[in-house]
Amino acid sequence: MYMTRSVIRSVGSYLPQRVMTNAELAEMVDTSDDWIVERTGIRQRHIAAEGELTSHLAIKAAEAALSRSGIAAADIDLVIVATSTPDQTFPATAATVQGELGILQGAAFDVQAVCSGFVYALTTADNFVRAGSARNVLVIGAETFSRILDWTDRGTCVLFGDGAGAVVVTAANDDDDPGKGILATRLRSDGRYRDKLYVDGGPSSTQTVGHLRMEGREVFKHAVTNISDVMGETLEEAGVEPDKIDLFVPHQANKRILDGTARRFGLTTEKVVITVGHHGNTSAASIPLALDVAREDGRLQPDKLVLMEAMGGGFTWGAVLARW
Ligand code: UT7
Repeated sequence: MYMTRSVIRSVGSYLPQRVMTNAELAEMVDTSDDWIVERTGIRQRHIAAEGELTSHLAIKAAEAALSRSGIAAADIDLVIVATSTPDQTFPATAATVQGELGILQGAAFDVQAVCSGFVYALTTADNFVRAGSARNVLVIGAETFSRILDWTDRGTCVLFGDGAGAVVVTAANDDDDPGKGILATRLRSDGRYRDKLYVDGGPSSTQTVGHLRMEGREVFKHAVTNISDVMGETLEEAGVEPDKIDLFVPHQANKRILDGTARRFGLTTEKVVITVGHHGNTSAASIPLALDVAREDGRLQPDKLVLMEAMGGGFTWGAVLARW
């Protein structure tokens, strides 16, 4: 029986080389840099090259996280990929990642919770570790949303980008790293809202991949309330006051949403990791990408108390609190 705590050992990420600016989008649809920046905070996004698949981004992010973890790929016993843009309907992108990394043990599966995917996958990993079912878990958020956008719909095509981020989660006991690890998690969904943000295709319905459709204003209306609810519940479960949070790493959908949420919890600007300006909304990849930015700029340090949250299609939403 393995011990009961999950510690996040390392983080890594990968962004495709090509950057698409707002100015380029303004040549494709009736929009402007001013509108996109004012309404969303987005200035640019990365777009996967032709032939560059979600699994390719995921593997690069995983390799970066593994190289900093002190854990060999061969010792990973669970691979979870959060994605809504898998390489194929099946097998799971996680199986491709497992195979390409030469992992010969354990299990691999995808988690589908759209923009909440990373929070769902991290919570799943935590539960596997605490149950004693896995010891070294690779949790990846990877997306190529550019492939499911309707590039004629200005209401959605300006918002999303491609990328991947990964963390290595390991089992720890109280003698190792006391106080560190995942302290509390909270997942929610409400399927009554599934038509507010969806893809209008799929294997069973249309036999096509389909395009992303969103009632942006409706999603926006629920976002701050839903996110604040799970943040509050997560903090309460851990017995932590909001002012003890060192780093807030929200899903990066819209700067107005994350500013509004941060304000509600009295989180000052220097505690909030904001990447939406450079990455756009990368769905399940946005939190691990933001974690890696905070690692690079020195904000993500050992012992920091980190709160992550997300909301996405379904609706799904959730939060994870961890001591780094
Ligand atoms: O990550 C998953 C969760 N997703 C989200 O959290 C997204 C939540 N929603 C949002 O971030 C915002 O609702 C949007 C950024 C999508 C839209 O911002 P908004 O302030 O809610 O704008 P709106 O949809 O109410 O549209 C306002 C106006 C409309 O024109 P009219 O009807 O007032 O004449 C739109 O047609 O802005 C127009 N508009 C645009 N104008 C220029 C919509 N998209 C664009 C655009 N460029 N790209």
